[in-house]
Amino acid sequence: MDVSEAIRTRRSIRKFKPDPIPEEKIKLLLESARLAPSGTNTQPWRFIVVKDDDTKAKLQRAAHNQRHVKRAPIIIVCCADLKAFREYPERVDELIESGALPERTREVFIPYLEKGMSTVTKDALMVAAAANVAIAVEHIVLQAVEIGLGTCWVRWYEDNKVKEILDIPDHIEVMALLPVGIPDEDPSPRPRLSLDKIVFSEKYGGKYI
Ligand SMILES: Cc1cc2nc3c(=O)[nH]c(=O)nc-3n(C[C@H](O)[C@H](O)[C@H](O)COP(=O)(O)O)c2cc1C
Repeated sequence: MDVSEAIRTRRSIRKFKPDPIPEEKIKLLLESARLAPSGTNTQPWRFIVVKDDDTKAKLQRAAHNQRHVKRAPIIIVCCADLKAFREYPERVDELIESGALPERTREVFIPYLEKGMSTVTKDALMVAAAANVAIAVEHIVLQAVEIGLGTCWVRWYEDNKVKEILDIPDHIEVMALLPVGIPDEDPSPRPRLSLDKIVFSEKYGGKYI
C-alpha cells in the first residue's frame, strides 16, 4: 500500500475486534510517530500505551463514555511535553551537527528563540504542542492503515481526569486518545468539503477551482 492509498482508505474506526495487537506492530506505530517532523526538531510528543482493561474503562469514562475507547485492545495516549520547547539549544546544535542547518543559525536563531521563550504564554505553547503532536499522531494513524489496523482520534475527554488516571505530571498535556485495533467495521468515506470551498488562488477568497 502506498501513502496515497492509506490516505484515501483511512476511516475513523469505532468498532474493533478483540484480538490483541502484536508488539512489533505497536512498535512500528510508535516508530512512525518518532520520525515525524517538528518545529526546531522539538519532538515534544510523548506516548503512553494502555492495554490494561481497568485503565481503558476509566479512560472511556473520562472520554464521556465513548464506547470505542475501551473496545480497542490498546489506547495510545498522545501527549505533549511543554518542557521540550525549552530544549531548543540542544535541538539546534543537533540540527547544525547533522548538516540540516548552517552554523550561523546559532547566532541568528537562538537569540530569537530565547526572546520568544522568555515571554511565551502557556496558550502559545499549547498551540505549538498541538500542531507538532498532531503530525506524529497522524503518522501513527496512516501507518496503522498499512498494517491492517484502525484508529480513531479522540479529543472529547476530560483532560484533568485523563491526567489523574495516568499519573501525568503538570508539564505534560494530553493531546489525544488513540484507540487502536483490528477494524470490525468498514465504513464508507465520510463527507468532506469540496476543494473550491477550502482552496483559494493568490489571495483569500480568490477562485482557484
Ligand atoms: C482532532 C480530532 C478530534 C476528534 N475527536 C473525536 C472524538 O472525541 N470522538 C470520536 O468518535 N471521533 C473523533 N474524531 C474523529 C472525527 O469525528 C472524524 O475524523 C471525522 O468525522 C471524519 O471521519 P473520518 O475520520 O472517518 O474520515 C476526531 C478527529 C480529530 C482529527
